[in-house]
Amino acid sequence: MTELVHTRKELAAARDALTGTVGVVMTMGALHSGHETLLRAARERADHVLVTIFVNPLQFGPNEDFDRYPRTLDADLEICRRAGADVVFAPAVTDMYPEGQPTVRLNPGPLGEDLEGLSRPGFFHGVLTVVMKLLQLTRPDLAFFGEKDYQQLTLVRRMVRDLDVPTEIVGVPTVREPDGLALSSRNRYLSADERAAALSLSAALRAGAEAAERGADAGAVLAAAHRGFDSGTPGARLDYLVLTDADLEPGPVSGAARLLIAAWVGATRLIDNAAIHLAPRS
Ligand code: PAF
Repeated sequence: MTELVHTRKELAAARDALTGTVGVVMTMGALHSGHETLLRAARERADHVLVTIFVNPLQFGPNEDFDRYPRTLDADLEICRRAGADVVFAPAVTDMYPEGQPTVRLNPGPLGEDLEGLSRPGFFHGVLTVVMKLLQLTRPDLAFFGEKDYQQLTLVRRMVRDLDVPTEIVGVPTVREPDGLALSSRNRYLSADERAAALSLSAALRAGAEAAERGADAGAVLAAAHRGFDSGTPGARLDYLVLTDADLEPGPVSGAARLLIAAWVGATRLIDNAAIHLAPRS
């Protein structure tokens, strides 16, 4: 049985009734099989699974898609039930921010200003603030985040470490369509032509990973990834394509690395990333 709660009071009562380990999966709804994989990973590790569904206004810029972001609660609940979630917390904006938008927000530090943060100023302040609030409200032993939002996962890990939050953060690999497209709630905005163009992102990552497997150095991996992007169906406009340290630390890249990409397809901005292993420099 999956219990749906909307208010903090209902959540507190539902949370108090859970004994043993609790795993939380935080979402903005519009759930797809990528989220289902997160729920199943939580189900395997924790005695109870709590899902949050909240489209967080704090992490949307003035010209972003807050109003048109898909809201599909009934279908989401069906997925939560199927995956064996115990509790779903779906608060209204006024439940999360009863005093209006908070004036005190978490500062993600320099990494929060890079990559996604460069294109979306204030985005990670909004993400970390809501994640911290949801951690306080749900008090989980474990929290599961998809690797698709790799910079978010990295920053949440750092926040938990830097602020001594007693929750283990678990990263879950990205789920892809058979042709390579990473699952995302925003894929439902894409027309058929845009969907074809969106494959340029995974093509870039694949080309970079293949180059690394052949022993290419960092510069050659990045060049191969650019060629992979350019060889896709035209229509995707690159925002960034970078090869960095696996912890997104600045400095020279060697060994475990991460290739990250963002691109616009029509009015939709998509992101993706892949683990890359660079051969040791001789
Ligand atoms: O990844 C998301 O869906 C959101 O950024 C999150 C973590 C639920 C915070 O609103």
